[in-house]
Amino acid sequence: MEEALPTPYKRIIIGSFAAMALGAMFTAAPALADSHGLVKYTITGPEHEYAIEKSLTGKAGDPVRGRKLAINRKKGNCLACHAVSVLKDQPYHGEVGPSLDGVADRYKPGQLRMMIVDQKKYFPETLMPAMYKVKGLHRVVKKFQGKPILTAQEVEDVLAFILTLKHE
Ligand code: HEC
Repeated sequence: MEEALPTPYKRIIIGSFAAMALGAMFTAAPALADSHGLVKYTITGPEHEYAIEKSLTGKAGDPVRGRKLAINRKKGNCLACHAVSVLKDQPYHGEVGPSLDGVADRYKPGQLRMMIVDQKKYFPETLMPAMYKVKGLHRVVKKFQGKPILTAQEVEDVLAFILTLKHE
């Protein structure tokens, strides 16, 4: 049956499926994302205890992927500024920020999600880059302009990893 259709008709059929798929993408986007394509999230909690309670993607993070992102110099690069004992096989650990050992005992999961998304909410003057933000970043390397450092799912993955950093 398919064989019998002359090529121009096949093109039209394929083209209209593609248009439908694109249409579905664009109509689904505005409700979930801001003008930069970032997922919308709700910040709760009193000052100094801000939290994003819900997963940015609705899915749980993967701690194994999160560990890789935390190490990755082009992604989270957490080790540039933080020491983490369970990553002692990695070469360099920075001292700009506090050690992340036991951080899951110090903060609740929603607070840690907030800190990864935008640490400035806690420490307005911090050197720590907001990992899930586009607006308000200055002098961003051209390649990264308009893109957050981590995707929404990568935020969840890094969070899942740092939630394993407990003292006991
Ligand atoms: C450029 C340096 C830098 C990078 C990169 C960085 N941080 Fe930070 N981070 C800081 C600093 C500095 C602080 C302390 C807050 C302050 O006073 O600015 C901090 C604080 C934190 C805290 C709170 C720790 C506590 O005990 O209060 C968490 C959690 C955290 N960072 C997680 C991360 C994660 C996860 C990554 C990687 C995805 C990361 N940071 C990457 C500099 C950095």
